[in-house]
Amino acid sequence: MSKSSDFTILPSHVGVIMDGNGRWAKLRNLPRTAGHKEGAETFRKIANYACDLGIPVITFYAFSTENWSRPELEVNAIMDLFRDYLDEAKERQAENEERGMRVRFIGDLTGLDADIFEMAMGLTDLSSDKTRITVNVAVNYGGRQEILKSVKEIASRIQGGEIVPDDIDINMISDGLYTANLPDPDLIIRPSGEYRLSNFLTWQSAYSEFWFSDILWPDFTEEDFDEALRAFEKRNRRFGGI
Ligand code: IPE
Ligand code: IPE
Ligand code: MG
Repeated sequence: MSKSSDFTILPSHVGVIMDGNGRWAKLRNLPRTAGHKEGAETFRKIANYACDLGIPVITFYAFSTENWSRPELEVNAIMDLFRDYLDEAKERQAENEERGMRVRFIGDLTGLDADIFEMAMGLTDLSSDKTRITVNVAVNYGGRQEILKSVKEIASRIQGGEIVPDDIDINMISDGLYTANLPDPDLIIRPSGEYRLSNFLTWQSAYSEFWFSDILWPDFTEEDFDEALRAFEKRNRRFGGI
């Protein structure tokens, strides 16, 4: 495990696609739900570690808009894990705030069960002055759907006569996303041996660096996170320049 001073540069925002829970369970002859349970523990561990390192924003992809296509039993088990985490986050709110950590759920929360929606909104409302670190948990999140949401909001403003089409710019679209006011992800981590974004931070990842690994999410450690940060340190980001 490292400390922030071990790195010459830390990303301002890290995105993490928490993938491989099902395969982790299968390898152990366990039900897929056991993989999700273990994955939720890994999430707690890495979120705390990122907070200790002082990474200003970290976004964990927990459930996509496409994940509803899974068996009901699996979806329900995942939703129960969100309930557990939301209960815990509420209980630890004071402690987290003391650490300067703010937990938010992002995505189309209206598509979730009412109790989860309410608990998630409760968290989202609580922004404290002490916020040093934002932990986003992306639930019922889809990058394309998020862009669509922003575009619709802009269209309404045009319809209301507030703006004209020519006023639309990149910032206006960014401001309508769940990540408004947050930096774009500098680094996106995807374990489990898949090399794709799967509808994660579609707009925001235009200039992200990627780190892929075969490790299955439940096996992911602080050392793996360090390795991703080390790789990031060595990247030469040009943003189209020379
Ligand atoms: C990620 O693990 C968790 C969610 C998408 C909810 P998976 O459940 O996708 O695990 P694999 O990819 O089947 O191994
Ligand atoms: C991406 O994983 C979504 C989350 C980790 C929440 P998936 O397992 O759903 O992605 P695909 O289906 O392999 O692209
Ligand atoms: Mg998967």
